[in-house]
Amino acid sequence: MAEQLQAREPSPSVLLLPLPLQGPINAFLKLAHLLSLCSENLKITFVNAEFVHRRLPDLPSRFPGIRFCDFPDGISDDEPRPPAKFCGMVAMFEAEVISALPKFMESPTSVTCLIVDGVLTAVGKKAQELGIPVVYFSTLGPCCIWASCFFVPKLVDSGQIPISKGKDLKESVSNIPGTETTTLRWCDLPSICRTDDLTHPYVQLVLRECRDLPNAQGHILNTFDDLEQPLLTELRSLCPNLYTIGPIHLHSRTKQQPEAEQLVSSNSLWEEDRSCIAWLDDQPSKSVIFVSFGSIVSLTIDQVLEFSFGLVNSGIRFLWVRRPGSIVGVEDGCEESSLQVPAEILKATQERGFIVKWAPQEEVLAHSAIGGFLTHSGWNSTLESIVEGVPMLCWPNGIDQLVISRFVGDVWKIGIDMKDVCDRVVIENQVRDLMEGHREAVSQRANRLSKLAAQAVREEGSSWQALHRLIEDIKFMRLSCRQ
Ligand code: UDX
Repeated sequence: MAEQLQAREPSPSVLLLPLPLQGPINAFLKLAHLLSLCSENLKITFVNAEFVHRRLPDLPSRFPGIRFCDFPDGISDDEPRPPAKFCGMVAMFEAEVISALPKFMESPTSVTCLIVDGVLTAVGKKAQELGIPVVYFSTLGPCCIWASCFFVPKLVDSGQIPISKGKDLKESVSNIPGTETTTLRWCDLPSICRTDDLTHPYVQLVLRECRDLPNAQGHILNTFDDLEQPLLTELRSLCPNLYTIGPIHLHSRTKQQPEAEQLVSSNSLWEEDRSCIAWLDDQPSKSVIFVSFGSIVSLTIDQVLEFSFGLVNSGIRFLWVRRPGSIVGVEDGCEESSLQVPAEILKATQERGFIVKWAPQEEVLAHSAIGGFLTHSGWNSTLESIVEGVPMLCWPNGIDQLVISRFVGDVWKIGIDMKDVCDRVVIENQVRDLMEGHREAVSQRANRLSKLAAQAVREEGSSWQALHRLIEDIKFMRLSCRQ
């Protein structure tokens, strides 16, 4: 009888829907891969934006157990995807997916659970209306989600955001309930707190996210319990069913067969220039600072010059990723003429620097020549650095990065927060400080966190347990939904 019942039940089928940006796509692909490795009878469908699909055409052959499909995000293929277009892109992508949701309910691929990016809550809500259980996967830094959910609505309601002109942003945020014990200053709050227009679509999107996140069957976070315990305890009071399964890239690396590592590790939307690995092979141990500002941040010409001078004058070797189109007003290939870098800086860059358009970042951070990471404090970059025990010099730019850099510098104490400053002398001094000055103590703490991350994803570790609980719950969600 039980067998007959089982035979009639549709097998569990999960639909994964990331935000079409490099960081979320990477994290979602690794989650999909983990699910396919750990659960034999789970059907997995992965939804990409069309432009992602075109840039990663080999996904179906690299992940044969996963079905891929795609939708437009409203921006043509060759256009850059600047932050200014973010809200329009989200709205268009959500509308496309929402109109297709009923199709995903049809047999034989009938979806029994939706795992969707925590930003795409309109899709989550629609899915729930259709009877599909929803699990949000927030790929932003959990410290930012915590700050956004607990403080931002209160600060908006009490009229403290927009922040009044002339306020000292270095002051602690302590004058509203719940913020007494935080180490956050006004300048460390999520970037929407710096708005002077509460009606701005991005502000509204974040407030919508804060409101909607608790209304789901569960919530996946790319972190591990030992890293953020007090904050996770608070978040659980809002979203009781948290799955802390990270660091997801390490988790996926630990689960796969060693010979398959190369196969699953590159989800880059840009072509990786592997010549930097050969260059790193020739550098002394821990002598190089890796410089990368992720997949979204753009720099002005002045900022590129400040970093160039600062890095060269520090005397430290550096490997710098300059993504195509990432300098405001400079077309790809016209850098040399537009930047007008003085000859002595160019010469010094050739002597002790190396510049690539896109690097195999995880591999770079794991390289023995890397001693530090100058980063924009995106959450994926931060976790990748923590896993390799690499201390960070943080130059946060927006979104969650302002909060993450504070945690790196002040809570975990595994780096320096260089927030709101882009000055060649400061950069020179901070690079030296990270690589030579306080190296010993910071490295010790970074290595400790790296070990804790490895423990978390090992068999019976906290992230391992959370992943297996998620898989069991996905099966249970199917039963509770269909009965
Ligand atoms: C965005 C937001 O900007 C960030 O604040 C948020 O935490 C996640 O979403 P992004 O800016 O791209 O992400 O930064 P990050 O989260 O660090 O992700 C960048 C990814 O690109 C990393 O996985 C990194 O390994 C990869 N990368 C970056 C490369 O593979 N090669 C490179 O040369 C640079």
